[in-house]
Amino acid sequence: MKATIAFLSVVTALTAYYVYVPLPSTVSEPWKLMLLDAALRIAQDVSNIAHWMGLGHYQTFLNLAANFLEELGPESTETVKVEDTAFDGVQVRVFEAGKNTNDAELKRGVIYIHGGGWALGSARIRSYDYICKKIADVLNAVVVSVEYRLVPEVYFPEQIHDVLQVAKHFLLLEVLAKYSVDPHRVAISGDSAGGNLAAAVSQQLAQDRSVTTRLKLQALIYPALQALDFNTPSYQQNMDIPILYRSVMARFWLEYLKGDTSFVKPLLVNNHTSFDLHEAAAVRAILNWTSLLPPSFKKGYKPVIQTLGDPRVIQEVPALLDVRAAPLIADNEVLQLLPKTYILTCEHDVLRDDGIMYAKRLEEAGIEVTHDHYEDGFHGCMIFGTWPTYFSVGIRTMNNYINWLSQNL
Ligand SMILES: *[C@@H]1O[C@H](CO)[C@@H](O)[C@H](O)[C@H]1NC(C)=O
Ligand SMILES: *[C@@H]1O[C@H](CO)[C@@H](O)[C@H](O)[C@H]1NC(C)=O
Repeated sequence: MKATIAFLSVVTALTAYYVYVPLPSTVSEPWKLMLLDAALRIAQDVSNIAHWMGLGHYQTFLNLAANFLEELGPESTETVKVEDTAFDGVQVRVFEAGKNTNDAELKRGVIYIHGGGWALGSARIRSYDYICKKIADVLNAVVVSVEYRLVPEVYFPEQIHDVLQVAKHFLLLEVLAKYSVDPHRVAISGDSAGGNLAAAVSQQLAQDRSVTTRLKLQALIYPALQALDFNTPSYQQNMDIPILYRSVMARFWLEYLKGDTSFVKPLLVNNHTSFDLHEAAAVRAILNWTSLLPPSFKKGYKPVIQTLGDPRVIQEVPALLDVRAAPLIADNEVLQLLPKTYILTCEHDVLRDDGIMYAKRLEEAGIEVTHDHYEDGFHGCMIFGTWPTYFSVGIRTMNNYINWLSQNL
């Protein structure tokens, strides 16, 4: 009896510890989100313990768990042929719509980059496999989902190089011809860290004179676009909102840029971009959210700019100021070269303002932008619009995003 009570108390305490997080009432299906978040945090804690015990890198463990549960082989359907192959040495999963019996009609092309903090996820996991198949099917398109290498196998800028290599290979006229893709109708797209890579590669391609095929569109789903200000209104508002906590995002950045994870604390108070740091002065002006965000998103939050900071952070992790890591700080001249853009943002997401500020800067540079905002959205919701979670906001974001691609590509 005593043992049973003790056992039940431990289970209850653990459940309460893992499951309950206070959530705003406006977020989509709060109870489901709590359960999803608890599952993800248990996986994170187990990976942390494994890392601490010296069994392997934290991110490797997290990925093992996710891929073990979720990885699918390349399974073709009646309408979409799926194949795992390599483009210029980089692994890709290609989804080819097969509806088209009229060979003269060319298809549309989409380069897709999955999310996961530059460290997690795969083109082969169920949710991304599902989304890419759906894009291929609805658009009658060829979708190239990039299996770029992840932290800790490689660090910045290798992830960008992998995606760039795939994009350049796909954009070669003979490769597009092989897949019957119209060179005038190719898009790049990605979510979260994949949105960061899509934005970075889009900027690289736009400036590269050796690439003759231009992208028609870029579509960025709740992208991460800067690591200079961890106190934008959305970072302040959503620091404790699942599934992407502010400290977790800071850690993803540091792991990607090969910085020491002990720098999470100075990053969170913006000690790396303080006033006394002259390297940061120029970017601080570009990234001024008091002029880039509409009042409805500022909600009375105040900028956090330290007078004295911690110069060691930028000295040791100079990539924090690198435009390839932070596409939001690109010069106007570069933004002007970019294709028509779709940006999806979620209210309950630390990265919300990264996306809103990029939309604003692109518009100011004369680019046509569709900004699609979800009041009940949370970070990552689109991939949770699939089996087994089926979040309603996930299904809506996915359908609207694919509709936009269909209408504009
Ligand atoms: C930020 O920098 C200030 C000035 O160097 C220092 O006093 C403070 O402890 C730092 N805070 C963090 C969290 O690193
Ligand atoms: C940001 O913009 C506001 C309003 O335009 C201005 O008052 C402020 O000085 C700017 N801050 C920086 C750091 O440039």
